Amino acid sequence: MTDRTFSILKPDATARNLTGKINAVIEEAGLRIVAQRRIRMSRAQAEKFYEVHSERPFYGELVDFMTSGPVVVQVLKGEGAVARYREVMGATNPAQAADGTIRKLFAVSMGENSVHGSDSDENARIEIAQFFDEADIVG
Ligand code: CMP
Repeated sequence: MTDRTFSILKPDATARNLTGKINAVIEEAGLRIVAQRRIRMSRAQAEKFYEVHSERPFYGELVDFMTSGPVVVQVLKGEGAVARYREVMGATNPAQAADGTIRKLFAVSMGENSVHGSDSDENARIEIAQFFDEADIVG
């Protein structure tokens, strides 16, 4: 099991100046931010990142949204990081997210849901490699 996961603070979060508040929730949950970069995702990057959803009706909207403003890409480290971060994020739909989770606290809707986190160790490795060189990860 890897102790890393990949995280994105999405454009709805950067637009509302929430990166510090979200990072505080991440750190209070015991996850360490071992790499972080603020970027504007290109359309090609977003299309590749969300390729698994390319047949879904919301794919176009998702790519439009993820390229609509700055995002913060991160590598988080901690024991069971993938599962732990999914707990901390809360359900994809903020209406179903538990109290105290990032999406309950900050998300606007299912699409504008403030954060992304990897759903498996394998995807964590693939997603981290899309945005970071190993030398950029300092933990
Ligand atoms: P994320 O974890 O980034 O992975 C896929 C994203 O698709 C998900 O978060 C949501 O933001 C988005 N998504 C999932 N379902 C829907 C939906 N029904 N409508 C719009 N966006 C969705």
